Amino acid sequence: VGTSMQATGASGATKKKMTGYVGFSNYPNQEHRRSIKRGFSFTLMVAGESGLGKSTLINTLFESKVYPGKDDNAAAAAAAALGVVVGSEGAKTVEITSVSAEIVENNVKLRLSVVDTPGFGDSINNDQAWKPILENIESRFDAYLAQENRVNRSKIVDNRVNALLYFIKPTGHGLRAIDIEFMKNLHNKVNLIPVVAKADTMTPREVEQFKGKILADINFHGIQIFKPVSDQFDDPETIADNKAIAGKIPFAVVGSERLVERSDGTRVRGRQYPWGIIEVENEAHNDFVSLRQMLLRTHMEELRDATDVSLYETYRTQKLLALGHVQDNTVFREFNPRQQLEEEERVHAAKMQKLEAEMAAVFKQKVQEKEGKLRQSEDELYSRHKDMKGVLERQRGELEDKKRRLGISDAGMPVPAVGVQQHDGAQPAVQSKD
Ligand code: GTP
Repeated sequence: VGTSMQATGASGATKKKMTGYVGFSNYPNQEHRRSIKRGFSFTLMVAGESGLGKSTLINTLFESKVYPGKDDNAAAAAAAALGVVVGSEGAKTVEITSVSAEIVENNVKLRLSVVDTPGFGDSINNDQAWKPILENIESRFDAYLAQENRVNRSKIVDNRVNALLYFIKPTGHGLRAIDIEFMKNLHNKVNLIPVVAKADTMTPREVEQFKGKILADINFHGIQIFKPVSDQFDDPETIADNKAIAGKIPFAVVGSERLVERSDGTRVRGRQYPWGIIEVENEAHNDFVSLRQMLLRTHMEELRDATDVSLYETYRTQKLLALGHVQDNTVFREFNPRQQLEEEERVHAAKMQKLEAEMAAVFKQKVQEKEGKLRQSEDELYSRHKDMKGVLERQRGELEDKKRRLGISDAGMPVPAVGVQQHDGAQPAVQSKD
């Protein structure tokens, strides 16, 4: 393959320009085939006050009775016919229920799970309404973490919540304390998508004003919500679509499981009023289409990715650190035997050098001790010698005295009498007194 060097990346890898076809550009197609073969999963959670139309919107989104209608007893049977596992049924969602269904569209398999949470706001004290929902999201992270830590990880079931549709009551007055509390406690754990419920109960002007107030509250309280963002790889059309979808947040939605008849005789999903009909899939009537577009058509993978790479990863790190695991910042290098050998030799040489230095220090210390001892015995010998010498000097002096008193000369001869002169070279003349 002919190549020409372009630049050196930050990682040290050299960027090369291809002049021929190698084939790795087919990788996205391989990935596409793999996705089709394996299918993928998506978990959507809905939360908000009771009676805001959460279950209805889910059924509207998936155009089937994924979730049994509250007033529809036949819905459970319909769900069973669809192969849907139903968590609970009844007039009101009273506990967190999970519904799973495998949906196939154009040969693409989607394992969809919808988690419906009991509508809050009914209790006298709603302070902790977010708590069971947070616990549910975290327990799903825990279950995934436990599977990741298993020896055999070939069949990991991913039940992590990929998106949470938070239903805001159409009051027209911005977010309520309960909404702020809920979102602040969950925005770090899930991709939060705020929706204005039952948008058909407000005029378009009221909806726009309400959205402005909600966004101002979200910004003011530092709440993080999921927003489609474009990057350098996106084409102008995608960038424009993303901008249009982002501009609709919070989505003002209308849900309906019923078909209504339009003036032209066609039947559409909508809500019938004495003055006319509200069509669910009419973009001029509400933002349902944009929400569906983002959730199912354009940003499903981004939502899954954000869950895995950002939200779960942060949770996992915090969890493991709390359990006493030490953050491992080691940069793993490629295994290089020669480098490994050099490294081992370097470590060995350093060890030997240290050992030698220690031995030299011990030797020096021993020599110093020996020298000190020798000096000490030398000093002792010297002082003993000095004492002895003193004693001998004294004894000699005493002997000299004795000798003198006895009149013995050094040669053992009697000392001459006083007044006798001794001449040089001649024997002293002993003179008799006679
Ligand atoms: P809980 O399970 O109690 O939390 O209720 P929910 O939020 O799941 O509400 P549900 O879907 O059961 O709907 C409650 C009522 O609101 C039903 O009578 C629906 O027909 C009605 N409803 C649902 N969506 C809309 C909507 O967009 N507009 C209007 N006007 N009514 C709706």
